[in-house]
Amino acid sequence: MSLPKAELHLHIEGTLEPELAFELAARNGVTLPYADTDELREAYRFEDLQSFLNLYYELMAVLRTERDFEDLANAYLARAAAQGVRHAEIFFDPQAHTSRGLELGTVVEGLWRALGDSASRHGVSTRLIMCFLRDESAESALATLDAAKPYLDRITGVGLDSAEVGHPPAKFREVYEAAAALGLRRVAHAGEEGPPEYITEALDVLGVERVDHGLRCVEDPALVERLVRERVPLTLCPLSNVRLRTVDTLADHPLPAMLDAGLICTVNSDDPAYFGGYAGDNFDAVRGTLGLSEERLRELARNSFLASFLEDDEELRAR
Ligand code: ADE
Ligand code: ZN
Repeated sequence: MSLPKAELHLHIEGTLEPELAFELAARNGVTLPYADTDELREAYRFEDLQSFLNLYYELMAVLRTERDFEDLANAYLARAAAQGVRHAEIFFDPQAHTSRGLELGTVVEGLWRALGDSASRHGVSTRLIMCFLRDESAESALATLDAAKPYLDRITGVGLDSAEVGHPPAKFREVYEAAAALGLRRVAHAGEEGPPEYITEALDVLGVERVDHGLRCVEDPALVERLVRERVPLTLCPLSNVRLRTVDTLADHPLPAMLDAGLICTVNSDDPAYFGGYAGDNFDAVRGTLGLSEERLRELARNSFLASFLEDDEELRAR
Protein backbone atom coordinates (compact mmCIF):
# COMPACT_ATOMS: atom_id res chain seq x y z
CA MET A 1 0.00 0.00 0.00
CA SER A 2 1.77 3.13 -1.19
CA LEU A 3 -0.61 5.71 0.34
CA PRO A 4 1.73 8.40 1.77
CA LYS A 5 2.00 7.88 5.50
CA ALA A 6 4.12 8.50 8.57
CA GLU A 7 5.36 5.65 10.70
CA LEU A 8 5.27 6.54 14.39
CA HIS A 9 5.89 3.20 16.11
CA LEU A 10 8.96 1.43 14.81
CA HIS A 11 11.81 -0.13 16.77
CA ILE A 12 14.90 0.02 14.58
CA GLU A 13 16.26 -3.14 16.22
CA GLY A 14 13.01 -4.82 15.21
CA THR A 15 13.82 -4.26 11.54
CA LEU A 16 16.75 -6.69 11.66
CA GLU A 17 15.87 -9.19 8.94
CA PRO A 18 17.38 -12.70 9.23
CA GLU A 19 19.57 -12.18 6.13
CA LEU A 20 21.12 -9.02 7.57
CA ALA A 21 21.50 -10.71 10.98
CA PHE A 22 23.63 -13.44 9.39
CA GLU A 23 25.58 -10.93 7.29
CA LEU A 24 26.44 -8.85 10.37
CA ALA A 25 27.22 -11.99 12.39
CA ALA A 26 29.77 -13.02 9.74
CA ARG A 27 31.21 -9.50 9.53
CA ASN A 28 31.65 -9.31 13.30
CA GLY A 29 32.67 -12.90 14.06
CA VAL A 30 29.52 -13.52 16.11
CA THR A 31 28.11 -17.06 16.17
CA LEU A 32 24.32 -17.25 16.16
CA PRO A 33 22.65 -20.33 17.66
CA TYR A 34 20.76 -20.95 14.39
CA ALA A 35 22.10 -22.86 11.39
CA ASP A 36 20.64 -20.53 8.77
CA THR A 37 17.92 -17.98 8.06
CA ASP A 38 15.27 -20.71 7.71
CA GLU A 39 16.06 -22.09 11.15
CA LEU A 40 16.04 -18.57 12.58
CA ARG A 41 12.64 -17.86 11.01
CA GLU A 42 11.35 -21.03 12.66
CA ALA A 43 11.98 -19.31 16.00
CA TYR A 44 9.51 -16.52 15.11
CA ARG A 45 6.59 -18.21 16.84
CA PHE A 46 5.76 -16.12 19.83
CA GLU A 47 3.55 -16.86 22.80
CA ASP A 48 3.53 -13.33 24.15
CA LEU A 49 5.60 -10.15 24.37
CA GLN A 50 8.33 -11.71 26.54
CA SER A 51 8.95 -14.65 24.21
CA PHE A 52 9.48 -12.16 21.39
CA LEU A 53 11.71 -9.89 23.49
CA ASN A 54 13.98 -12.84 24.31
CA LEU A 55 14.80 -13.34 20.61
CA TYR A 56 14.86 -9.60 19.88
CA TYR A 57 17.55 -9.00 22.51
CA GLU A 58 19.46 -12.16 21.58
CA LEU A 59 19.84 -11.14 17.93
CA MET A 60 21.13 -7.68 18.84
CA ALA A 61 24.48 -9.38 19.55
CA VAL A 62 25.29 -8.96 15.84
CA LEU A 63 25.08 -5.13 16.06
CA ARG A 64 28.55 -3.95 17.04
CA THR A 65 29.79 -0.99 14.99
CA GLU A 66 28.52 2.35 13.67
CA ARG A 67 28.40 0.79 10.23
CA ASP A 68 26.11 -1.99 11.51
CA PHE A 69 23.59 0.55 12.84
CA GLU A 70 23.89 2.58 9.63
CA ASP A 71 23.24 -0.51 7.47
CA LEU A 72 20.31 -1.53 9.66
CA ALA A 73 18.67 1.91 9.40
CA ASN A 74 19.31 2.22 5.66
CA ALA A 75 17.74 -1.18 5.02
CA TYR A 76 14.65 -0.11 6.99
CA LEU A 77 14.36 3.29 5.30
CA ALA A 78 14.57 1.74 1.81
CA ARG A 79 11.81 -0.75 2.64
CA ALA A 80 9.67 1.88 4.32
CA ALA A 81 10.00 4.26 1.36
CA ALA A 82 8.89 1.49 -1.00
CA GLN A 83 5.69 1.15 1.07
CA GLY A 84 4.79 4.85 1.02
CA VAL A 85 6.37 5.95 4.30
CA ARG A 86 7.34 9.63 3.92
CA HIS A 87 8.24 10.25 7.56
CA ALA A 88 9.47 7.86 10.27
CA GLU A 89 9.82 8.44 14.01
CA ILE A 90 12.25 5.73 14.97
CA PHE A 91 12.69 4.15 18.39
CA PHE A 92 15.99 2.77 19.58
CA ASP A 93 16.90 0.97 22.82
CA PRO A 94 20.23 2.35 24.09
CA GLN A 95 20.36 0.17 27.21
CA ALA A 96 20.13 -2.99 25.09
CA HIS A 97 23.45 -1.95 23.54
CA THR A 98 25.30 -0.23 26.38
CA SER A 99 24.63 -3.28 28.56
CA ARG A 100 26.63 -5.27 25.95
CA GLY A 101 29.57 -2.90 26.24
CA LEU A 102 28.79 -0.59 23.29
CA GLU A 103 29.13 3.16 23.63
CA LEU A 104 25.91 5.14 23.21
CA GLY A 105 27.78 7.23 20.63
CA THR A 106 28.33 4.17 18.42
CA VAL A 107 24.58 3.64 18.27
CA VAL A 108 23.53 7.27 17.75
CA GLU A 109 26.30 8.15 15.28
CA GLY A 110 25.65 4.97 13.30
CA LEU A 111 21.91 5.54 13.09
CA TRP A 112 22.50 9.20 12.26
CA ARG A 113 24.68 8.34 9.29
CA ALA A 114 21.57 6.80 7.71
CA LEU A 115 18.98 9.22 9.10
CA GLY A 116 20.98 12.29 8.15
CA ASP A 117 20.81 11.37 4.44
CA SER A 118 17.38 9.81 4.53
CA ALA A 119 15.37 12.72 3.11
CA SER A 120 17.58 13.01 0.03
CA ARG A 121 18.37 9.31 -0.38
CA HIS A 122 15.03 7.69 0.50
CA GLY A 123 12.56 10.57 0.48
CA VAL A 124 11.79 9.85 4.15
CA SER A 125 12.16 12.51 6.86
CA THR A 126 13.01 11.13 10.27
CA ARG A 127 13.03 11.70 14.01
CA LEU A 128 14.83 9.62 16.63
CA ILE A 129 13.14 8.58 19.89
CA MET A 130 15.25 7.09 22.66
CA CYS A 131 13.40 4.43 24.65
CA PHE A 132 14.05 3.36 28.22
CA LEU A 133 13.69 -0.33 29.02
CA ARG A 134 10.95 -0.48 31.63
CA ASP A 135 12.18 -3.80 33.03
CA GLU A 136 15.44 -2.04 33.96
CA SER A 137 15.65 0.32 36.94
CA ALA A 138 14.65 3.98 37.07
CA GLU A 139 18.30 4.75 37.94
CA SER A 140 19.47 3.08 34.74
CA ALA A 141 16.98 5.18 32.75
CA LEU A 142 18.30 8.35 34.40
CA ALA A 143 21.90 7.34 33.65
CA THR A 144 20.90 6.72 30.03
CA LEU A 145 19.33 10.17 29.73
CA ASP A 146 22.47 11.66 31.20
CA ALA A 147 24.70 9.74 28.75
CA ALA A 148 22.53 11.02 25.88
CA LYS A 149 23.16 14.69 26.66
CA PRO A 150 25.92 15.09 24.02
CA TYR A 151 23.50 13.78 21.37
CA LEU A 152 20.34 15.70 22.17
CA ASP A 153 20.50 17.65 18.91
CA ARG A 154 19.69 14.34 17.20
CA ILE A 155 17.11 13.00 19.63
CA THR A 156 13.55 14.35 19.48
CA GLY A 157 11.96 12.46 22.31
CA VAL A 158 11.91 9.67 24.83
CA GLY A 159 9.81 6.52 24.97
CA LEU A 160 9.27 3.52 27.22
CA ASP A 161 9.29 -0.08 26.00
CA SER A 162 10.13 -3.73 26.80
CA ALA A 163 8.24 -6.00 29.24
CA GLU A 164 5.19 -4.03 30.35
CA VAL A 165 3.32 -5.95 33.04
CA GLY A 166 4.73 -5.25 36.51
CA HIS A 167 6.54 -2.12 35.29
CA PRO A 168 3.99 0.71 35.50
CA PRO A 169 4.75 4.08 33.94
CA ALA A 170 4.99 5.82 37.34
CA LYS A 171 8.31 4.01 37.92
CA PHE A 172 9.78 6.49 35.40
CA ARG A 173 8.26 9.75 36.69
CA GLU A 174 11.62 11.32 37.48
CA VAL A 175 13.32 10.55 34.18
CA TYR A 176 10.30 11.82 32.20
CA GLU A 177 10.35 15.05 34.23
CA ALA A 178 14.05 15.42 33.45
CA ALA A 179 13.42 14.68 29.76
CA ALA A 180 10.67 17.30 29.62
CA ALA A 181 12.98 19.85 31.25
CA LEU A 182 15.49 19.14 28.46
CA GLY A 183 12.82 19.92 25.86
CA LEU A 184 12.32 16.32 24.76
CA ARG A 185 8.96 15.06 23.50
CA ARG A 186 7.39 12.19 25.44
CA VAL A 187 5.68 8.96 24.39
CA ALA A 188 5.37 5.57 26.11
CA HIS A 189 4.15 2.06 25.38
CA ALA A 190 1.06 1.46 27.51
CA GLY A 191 -1.90 -0.88 27.27
CA GLU A 192 -0.22 -3.42 24.98
CA GLU A 193 -0.18 -6.27 27.50
CA GLY A 194 -0.59 -4.01 30.52
CA PRO A 195 -3.93 -2.82 31.91
CA PRO A 196 -5.83 0.37 30.93
CA GLU A 197 -4.60 2.00 34.18
CA TYR A 198 -1.10 2.11 32.69
CA ILE A 199 -2.46 4.31 29.87
CA THR A 200 -3.95 6.73 32.39
CA GLU A 201 -0.67 6.74 34.32
CA ALA A 202 1.37 7.41 31.17
CA LEU A 203 -0.81 10.47 30.52
CA ASP A 204 -1.04 11.78 34.08
CA VAL A 205 2.38 10.91 35.50
CA LEU A 206 4.65 10.88 32.44
CA GLY A 207 2.85 13.57 30.45
CA VAL A 208 2.99 11.62 27.18
CA GLU A 209 1.68 13.23 23.98
CA ARG A 210 0.97 9.92 22.25
CA VAL A 211 0.36 6.43 23.57
CA ASP A 212 2.17 3.55 21.89
CA HIS A 213 -0.31 0.70 21.35
CA GLY A 214 -2.93 1.82 23.88
CA LEU A 215 -4.98 -1.12 22.65
CA ARG A 216 -6.42 -2.10 26.02
CA CYS A 217 -8.15 1.28 26.41
CA VAL A 218 -11.12 -0.47 24.82
CA GLU A 219 -11.71 -2.22 28.16
CA ASP A 220 -12.47 1.12 29.84
CA PRO A 221 -15.18 3.26 28.20
CA ALA A 222 -14.37 6.28 30.41
CA LEU A 223 -10.75 6.12 29.28
CA VAL A 224 -11.81 5.88 25.63
CA GLU A 225 -13.94 8.98 26.16
CA ARG A 226 -10.99 10.81 27.68
CA LEU A 227 -8.62 9.85 24.86
CA VAL A 228 -11.19 11.07 22.31
CA ARG A 229 -11.83 14.30 24.20
CA GLU A 230 -8.14 15.07 24.71
CA ARG A 231 -7.28 13.97 21.16
CA VAL A 232 -4.51 11.64 22.29
CA PRO A 233 -3.15 9.68 19.32
CA LEU A 234 -2.61 5.93 19.62
CA THR A 235 0.09 4.18 17.60
CA LEU A 236 -1.50 0.82 16.90
CA CYS A 237 0.41 -2.11 15.41
CA PRO A 238 -2.11 -4.68 14.11
CA LEU A 239 0.25 -7.39 12.82
CA SER A 240 2.31 -7.14 16.02
CA ASN A 241 -0.86 -7.66 18.09
CA VAL A 242 -1.62 -10.86 16.19
CA ARG A 243 1.93 -12.25 16.43
CA LEU A 244 2.21 -11.46 20.14
CA ARG A 245 -1.29 -12.83 20.74
CA THR A 246 -2.70 -9.61 22.12
CA VAL A 247 -5.62 -10.29 19.80
CA ASP A 248 -6.66 -13.80 18.69
CA THR A 249 -6.80 -13.05 14.97
CA LEU A 250 -6.60 -9.93 12.85
CA ALA A 251 -10.35 -10.21 12.23
CA ASP A 252 -10.83 -9.65 15.99
CA HIS A 253 -8.78 -6.45 16.04
CA PRO A 254 -10.75 -3.55 17.57
CA LEU A 255 -9.36 -0.95 15.11
CA PRO A 256 -12.69 -0.38 13.28
CA ALA A 257 -14.55 0.09 16.58
CA MET A 258 -11.80 2.38 17.84
CA LEU A 259 -12.10 4.57 14.75
CA ASP A 260 -15.90 4.57 15.09
CA ALA A 261 -15.48 5.72 18.70
CA GLY A 262 -13.52 8.75 17.47
CA LEU A 263 -10.06 7.70 18.67
CA ILE A 264 -7.10 9.12 16.75
CA CYS A 265 -5.63 5.84 15.57
CA THR A 266 -2.51 5.31 13.49
CA VAL A 267 -1.28 2.06 11.95
CA ASN A 268 2.37 1.08 12.33
CA SER A 269 4.66 -1.91 12.12
CA ASP A 270 6.43 -2.10 15.56
CA ASP A 271 9.06 -4.78 14.73
CA PRO A 272 8.43 -5.55 11.07
CA ALA A 273 11.20 -8.13 10.59
CA TYR A 274 9.58 -10.27 13.28
CA PHE A 275 5.86 -9.66 12.80
CA GLY A 276 5.40 -10.24 9.08
CA GLY A 277 5.19 -6.79 7.62
CA TYR A 278 6.20 -3.16 7.24
CA ALA A 279 3.88 -0.15 7.45
CA GLY A 280 2.25 -0.69 4.06
CA ASP A 281 1.76 -4.39 4.83
CA ASN A 282 -0.09 -3.39 8.01
CA PHE A 283 -2.32 -1.05 5.99
CA ASP A 284 -2.97 -3.83 3.43
CA ALA A 285 -3.80 -6.28 6.22
CA VAL A 286 -6.34 -4.03 7.91
CA ARG A 287 -7.88 -3.10 4.58
CA GLY A 288 -8.19 -6.73 3.51
CA THR A 289 -9.19 -8.42 6.75
CA LEU A 290 -11.05 -5.65 8.55
CA GLY A 291 -12.63 -4.28 5.41
CA LEU A 292 -11.71 -0.66 6.11
CA SER A 293 -13.03 1.77 3.52
CA GLU A 294 -10.72 3.97 1.43
CA GLU A 295 -11.94 6.91 3.50
CA ARG A 296 -10.90 5.17 6.73
CA LEU A 297 -7.49 4.36 5.25
CA ARG A 298 -7.02 8.00 4.26
CA GLU A 299 -8.04 8.99 7.81
CA LEU A 300 -5.35 6.66 9.21
CA ALA A 301 -2.74 8.18 6.90
CA ARG A 302 -3.84 11.73 7.77
CA ASN A 303 -3.74 10.90 11.49
CA SER A 304 -0.17 9.64 11.12
CA PHE A 305 1.05 13.05 9.94
CA LEU A 306 -1.08 15.00 12.43
CA ALA A 307 0.18 12.87 15.34
CA SER A 308 3.82 13.17 14.22
CA PHE A 309 6.42 15.48 15.70
CA LEU A 310 6.84 17.28 12.37
CA GLU A 311 6.40 21.05 12.41
CA ASP A 312 3.30 22.25 10.53
CA ASP A 313 5.16 23.30 7.37
CA GLU A 314 7.23 20.09 7.29
CA GLU A 315 4.07 18.08 7.80
CA LEU A 316 2.36 19.60 4.80
CA ARG A 317 5.43 18.96 2.63
CA ALA A 318 5.64 15.32 3.76
CA ARG A 319 1.98 14.53 2.96
N1 ADE B 1 10.36 -3.54 22.12
C1 ADE B 1 10.30 -3.86 20.84
N2 ADE B 1 9.05 -4.12 20.48
C2 ADE B 1 8.28 -3.95 21.57
C3 ADE B 1 6.89 -4.06 21.84
N3 ADE B 1 6.00 -4.42 20.91
N4 ADE B 1 6.47 -3.82 23.09
C4 ADE B 1 7.33 -3.48 24.04
N5 ADE B 1 8.64 -3.35 23.83
C5 ADE B 1 9.11 -3.60 22.61
ZN1 ZN C 1 6.65 -1.18 20.23
